[in-house]
Amino acid sequence: MGLFITFEGPEGSGKSTQARLLYERLQRLGYPVILTREPGGTRIGELIRRILVDLRHTEMAPTTETLLFSAARAQLVSELVRPYLKTGGIVLCDRYADSTFAYQGYGLGRDLEELQSITTVATGGLMPDLTFYLDLDVEMGLQRKRSARDRLPEPASAAAAFTPHPEWNRLDARDLAYHQRVATGFAELMRRDPDRWRCFVANQPVDLLAEQIFTQVEPMLARIVRLENPR
Ligand code: TYD
Repeated sequence: MGLFITFEGPEGSGKSTQARLLYERLQRLGYPVILTREPGGTRIGELIRRILVDLRHTEMAPTTETLLFSAARAQLVSELVRPYLKTGGIVLCDRYADSTFAYQGYGLGRDLEELQSITTVATGGLMPDLTFYLDLDVEMGLQRKRSARDRLPEPASAAAAFTPHPEWNRLDARDLAYHQRVATGFAELMRRDPDRWRCFVANQPVDLLAEQIFTQVEPMLARIVRLENPR
């Protein structure tokens, strides 16, 4: 029941923009749809997100990091995703479990089978019907994010400098080699499960990309009942 679609990609690939554009389009067409994100999407998950992205938390152990991402995911699946899918709606999620395999698995070197067990506990085995990957050169993506960060005004106080930054976080701050391992990880995940993944070049006009994404989603909408009084 329902339709579960996730968006993945390296930093700065524009996946959040594409998730939002798809959300708005489906809403305009009268489909029951929600847009959420990981880590976060619930009150508890957003609190966990703050711990994860805080630039001060340099001492965080890889196991802690993995379990926190998974804890946020468990809450999201149980509080939001499963209940909404049960009503027959469409759930769009900006990142999901694939990010754990790519970032904590390939990026940090955590054992992939162990991650699989943790993920199964967190999600009860819930997998997306479709996953979009927005492919962008790692260096270019980080550059995009860095310049977005530099365009923001200076924080007003020293304390503010350490608050979770909307554009540049603890995970972005890892080195280029890490981000390259993550990208290799995503490529491997796509190779293993080609039916679920749709990979697009991220570095193209936003509207063109949105159109390509919608074309992939359209055939799957037949199973979704539209709302009677769309917003
Ligand atoms: P996100 O908000 O998607 O950041 P961005 O849009 O800047 O890519 O995700 C926050 C960070 O968390 C991002 O660097 C990817 C990382 N992440 C993991 O390391 N593991 C995970 O399981 C998830 C969901 C995200």
